[in-house]
Amino acid sequence: MRVMTVVGARPEFIQTAPVSQVLRQQHLEILVHTGQHYDVRMSQVFFEDLGVPEPDYNLGVGSGSHAQQTGQIMIRLEPIIQDEQPDWVLVYGDTNTTAAAGLVAAKLSVPLAHIEAGLRSHDRTMPEEINRVITDHLSDLLFAPTQAAVDNLQAEGLVAGVHQVGDVRVDLLADLARWDVPEPAQTRQAQGLPADGVFALVTIHRAGNTDRVERLGGIVAALNDLSLPVVLPAHPRLQKMMARHGLTFSSNVQVIEPVGFLGMMALLQACAVVLTDSGGLQKEAYLLRRPVVTVRDNTEWVETVEAGWNRLCPAVPLAIQAAVAAALDTPPVAHPDYYGSPGVSGRICTVLETTHRPMARRPVLTAER
Ligand code: UD1
Repeated sequence: MRVMTVVGARPEFIQTAPVSQVLRQQHLEILVHTGQHYDVRMSQVFFEDLGVPEPDYNLGVGSGSHAQQTGQIMIRLEPIIQDEQPDWVLVYGDTNTTAAAGLVAAKLSVPLAHIEAGLRSHDRTMPEEINRVITDHLSDLLFAPTQAAVDNLQAEGLVAGVHQVGDVRVDLLADLARWDVPEPAQTRQAQGLPADGVFALVTIHRAGNTDRVERLGGIVAALNDLSLPVVLPAHPRLQKMMARHGLTFSSNVQVIEPVGFLGMMALLQACAVVLTDSGGLQKEAYLLRRPVVTVRDNTEWVETVEAGWNRLCPAVPLAIQAAVAAALDTPPVAHPDYYGSPGVSGRICTVLETTHRPMARRPVLTAER
């Protein structure tokens, strides 16, 4: 098979690592980087950390409004798909890269496979929710990580092509021992903390939290006064918005540059609690058994909340501080296996192989001039 994988943002680089590895054992993968993320610490470090092969194409779209970013990806990707004639286009998650690549593939009648299909926050103010819905409805194969995702798809009438394979992060974390992740004591000392000290690992990057001063101000006030020290790898948007809103952190918060996947796993294993608005980190924390406070009104990873490992929380200082205290005081005991057993990437490849019909293309639609 010729499989074209299209990635562009941090979570996609992470998820493609185990899948690419399995795929390339028997098939040809053409890797396209849209350039949505371009800083070394937002992009290159993930390729290096996880041994993701060099992209065959880099579209270099960079930042912009949603329409600009999505449109530029579509314009630059279309001729590459036409030239390469892949059997599948493979996309991940919910970014502008995902939706743009999905639209181009579907309009060129190239079969589309979506990994991490079926997630829903049921919140259409999130750009990611729009991207998920569009991509799922365009896809020929929908690889759902959880039963909740399968149920969401069914509720929208999507049943054909849905496969519950588990979550690809399970493969990555099952393999963690083979990476060179520092010991927790070493990680704490590297952050200037006592070897046996506790700290909260914090990431905040969603537009819904950073762009409104009242929400970001509430989060900053909570962290400045939290009962334990904070280590915060700062996404470029957070850094930009802190400056724009004239907000500053107290000495309780150690702001560091964005870290790669292995750096993040080291921090996660060393921390006592996570506070975040990231989707991927909620799930990684669950898999590594760290309690989470999610500063959002909703989550796609509903099962982590049901199991008591994740608490949704408004951007209000006292509420955040209380949620962090509760997460530390009452660690849950049960840890259900929501995300499947290792071998997720292999299961995805098998479905791609068995569904692959080389000549079964629909006629390509040409736009009228
Ligand atoms: C995107 C995804 C989000 C995912 C996140 C991971 C969409 C709609 N959202 O959000 O689901 O959780 O990636 O990070 O696609 N920037 C830089 N350097 C970079 C990348 C970004 O400075 O390398 C800055 C730019 O100012 C940019 C802002 O960060 O405007 C936001 O980046 P963008 O790619 O638009 O979306 P993310 O917030 O990263």
